[in-house]
Amino acid sequence: MSDKLIIFDTTLRDGEQSPGASMTRDEKLRIARQLERLRVDVIEAGFAAASPGDFEAVRTIASHIREATVCSLARANDRDISRAAEALKEAPRSRIHTFIATSELHMEKKLRMTREQVLEQARLAVRFARNLCPDIEFSPEDGYRSDPDFLCRVLEAVIEEGATTINVPDTVGYAIPELYGDFIRTLRERMPNSDKAVWSVHCHNDLGMAVANSLAGVKIGGARQVECTINGLGERAGNTSLEEVVMAVKTRRDYFGLDVGIDTSQIVPASRLVAQTTGFVVQPNKAVVGANAFAHASGIHQDGVLKARDTYEIMRAEDVGWSANKIVLGKLSGRNAFRQRLQELGVELESESELNAAFARFKDLADRKSEIFDEDIIALLGDESVTSEHEHYRLLSLAQRSETGERPCARVVFAAGEQEHHAESEGNGPVDASLKAIESKVRSGAELLLYSVNAITSGSTESQGEVTVRLQLGGRVVNGVGADPDIVIASAKAYLSALNKLHSQAERVAAQG
Ligand code: KIV
Ligand code: ZN
Repeated sequence: MSDKLIIFDTTLRDGEQSPGASMTRDEKLRIARQLERLRVDVIEAGFAAASPGDFEAVRTIASHIREATVCSLARANDRDISRAAEALKEAPRSRIHTFIATSELHMEKKLRMTREQVLEQARLAVRFARNLCPDIEFSPEDGYRSDPDFLCRVLEAVIEEGATTINVPDTVGYAIPELYGDFIRTLRERMPNSDKAVWSVHCHNDLGMAVANSLAGVKIGGARQVECTINGLGERAGNTSLEEVVMAVKTRRDYFGLDVGIDTSQIVPASRLVAQTTGFVVQPNKAVVGANAFAHASGIHQDGVLKARDTYEIMRAEDVGWSANKIVLGKLSGRNAFRQRLQELGVELESESELNAAFARFKDLADRKSEIFDEDIIALLGDESVTSEHEHYRLLSLAQRSETGERPCARVVFAAGEQEHHAESEGNGPVDASLKAIESKVRSGAELLLYSVNAITSGSTESQGEVTVRLQLGGRVVNGVGADPDIVIASAKAYLSALNKLHSQAERVAAQG
């Protein structure tokens, strides 16, 4: 048995299924590049057959990623599998991940298929996929709630057909660590050909045990692949968190005895990029990547850490990519210094025009903020004026007035396509007035589900504010993110960014319809 643990990242597929986390093709490519810097073994880039947009995203990632294996999900049918193979054509290393549900509940109520039909479909799907790609993963959806006898028959059959990885999903997050570990061990022990495939765990976090279950699947069950997402992003309570699994296996190598190929110094940059792109902020007390994960507030702890770090620290902040808020650039920094800092941060912009736009945003920020940190640079890269996508709604200017005893008002100028809008409104506060002004022209009718503000760099009111706005319209949920030293401007940017997502989804539906 190999002593390497394969890290399979599904941020761009299962993570993206979280309502509001949908990403554009360029955003996905940026995250895929960061995943490659992180040195994950497999990147599940999406579900190619789900829509033309998903196909394009998988195809783009497959043609840019050189080191990691790029994978596409596919239902167990020829059309999905062919689309996946087509989208993956350019990847030096590719994998097709096909799945069908095997629990009684899913087969009867969702698929309306008998056991024998499911068994046959799984077998045929893997046979078909194997002719298109040598690396095939098979998942029995809702596997953990499936009858083990039936599951053994299905898994044995797909290995016979050439599946190279067998993934056992706890689709609804029902498992308990010891039981999940035993479940996988039992399957492996009972199947005569189980050693012909790598076993994989895929856990959801509904009971808060996704990481514990995955680690039990590794330790007790003998799995050698963990499927996980950055920040534990995913539907409902999320997926297994990549950073927690990796740091658990590294920190407790004495117990697990396994190696992971991850460059841990890229963990925090990956976490920030995913949070900023999706608008799903990281809770401060989140293990490894939360703002407080390495902060020692109590006097006793501080005293201990100063005397000897390992009194209270089991990992080093810098090993997972936390850097002290370092002033990196200022308003006198030139284009070359800016370009070099981007390179040091591992950021690759698509074109000279993106670099020019990023530099212009940087100069604008440096005029208003005396100290520019790495976090500020990463945040400005998320700005829609920098990315190559041409957004429909763009903020042009904003003025607002608020005074004790007066009702605040705001005047916002923004572009919608070729048209320029001048909007004014009052509100309960300047943020409310600004968003109402925008809405008075756009008339989206979207419901505001969430509004939150975070400081990009901690410990100072000079920090940029990063605002997340979540909107719901007609059953669709989107997140918009905006950053600026002025939180009213950041709020307007976040609102327009969310409207852009609603707009591009509406365009996508219209194009397909
Ligand atoms: O949770 C699940 O069952 C899945 C499968 C498609 C692998 O995501
Ligand atoms: Zn899943």
